[in-house]
Amino acid sequence: MKRYSVVICGGGSTYTPDMIELLCLLQDSFPLRKVKLYDIDAERQEIVGKFGEVMFRDYYEGLEFSYTTDPAEAFEDIDFALVQIRAGGMGLRNADEKIPYKYGRIGQETCGPGGLAYGIRSVPAMIQLVKDIRRYSPDAWIINYANPAAIVAEATKRAFPGDTRLVNICDMPPDVLNHYLPFIGKKRSDIWPVYFGLNHFGWFTRLLDRKTGEDVLPELMDYILGHYDEIHAQFKARITGPTDHWPITFLDHLEMIRDFPYSLPNTYNLYYLYPDRTYGHYSIDHTRYDEVVEGREHEVFGLCRKVAELGHMIGTEYDLTDKIAQKRASIRDLGVETVYAANDVHAAYLVELVISIINNAHEPTLVMTENKGICPNLDPGMMLEVTCLAGAQELMPLQVGEVPAFEKGLLENQYACEKLLVDAIFEHSDMKLLQAFTENRLVRDADVAKKIIADFKAANGSEWPEFH
Ligand code: G6P
Ligand code: MN
Repeated sequence: MKRYSVVICGGGSTYTPDMIELLCLLQDSFPLRKVKLYDIDAERQEIVGKFGEVMFRDYYEGLEFSYTTDPAEAFEDIDFALVQIRAGGMGLRNADEKIPYKYGRIGQETCGPGGLAYGIRSVPAMIQLVKDIRRYSPDAWIINYANPAAIVAEATKRAFPGDTRLVNICDMPPDVLNHYLPFIGKKRSDIWPVYFGLNHFGWFTRLLDRKTGEDVLPELMDYILGHYDEIHAQFKARITGPTDHWPITFLDHLEMIRDFPYSLPNTYNLYYLYPDRTYGHYSIDHTRYDEVVEGREHEVFGLCRKVAELGHMIGTEYDLTDKIAQKRASIRDLGVETVYAANDVHAAYLVELVISIINNAHEPTLVMTENKGICPNLDPGMMLEVTCLAGAQELMPLQVGEVPAFEKGLLENQYACEKLLVDAIFEHSDMKLLQAFTENRLVRDADVAKKIIADFKAANGSEWPEFH
């Protein structure tokens, strides 16, 4: 059986411990000979790297593990590059989220003005990374989670035309399914999803039962509406504090379904459809950034340090022996069981895609791909997030058809914004930069856009390119 070599870019990400743990659990389905971590932040990466050394030594016979900040070392002899970098680090995430608050706008690190600022850093960083990987491993699959994925996808489409092994993905749609399918006794592996949209702005329009072919979305909608108060109370009970981000998001998401009860939306649609409400959940002193630093960063790095200190996992509370031994019917539902659980579905979704690729299994997977008629009444160049069949040579998109007026209007507006931003980056055009920020539904006003851009420029310093 072939054994693969993997590099994780963004080795110091809080998602990396989960990811490498899952690689350990799935050694039968995705056999590895090498795992490398790559990051430009040596300090963060070392925390995760030391954990990885212990874990792989304990559980993965014959696997070579290393971590490095050197691209040559990282990218030579690679079959898969799994990317989860954050250009500008958490420090600039803070600026992305907080600056717009000064002007009464939510930053939002992916789809609001914060996401546009993040895109300005992320696009050149991703392009450089892909070039570096391609220099040493021209045939490797590059699977990217780095945000803002819609903007990154638009940019990589232009910078690397025809590179069919460069794929942008997102864990939000499968996470939405994980939240709702259990209500009708289903799980993700039972379903063939039909979805369309831009990244962080889309809708499931059909959920086909893989056995019967029946669309179970109407049944799910009936269930949600019929048990609305009960589900609402259940979602509400999960909220532990005034800014407990994901439980609050899913409560709002449920309310969005009640308002538009014919499709299952992405949670990020909330920012576009209810900008005032989402703005109101945070304040300039406390945004999602603060929660992540106080919560996930603290916990995940704390656990990594503990394991490194112990020097082994076998026989400790972190022991993976039973989990590795357990035979699982379907890898599609594995994510929820990782020890670190930085985000239940994040690692699982990516590894599922990889396993479908190596087995040429053509599992239906949501990825970003150029429209080219998938939705014939949308711009053919739009990077749509749609269901694709993941095979060994390529990802084959499934036809969606014409999209309705409401969704079409929203998507065209946001695509214009994202396209203009990528134009601005490639052409160094300050006019297009202003247009992109003005076009964004969470900004909507050129006076505000000008102020936000000026503040972002100051906060980003040398990370902000010249626009003229
Ligand atoms: C979801 C999105 C990701 C995003 C993450 C942010 O998983 O799909 O694109 O990075 O949420 O989560 P956080 O917990 O960092 O706010
Ligand atoms: Mn995402």
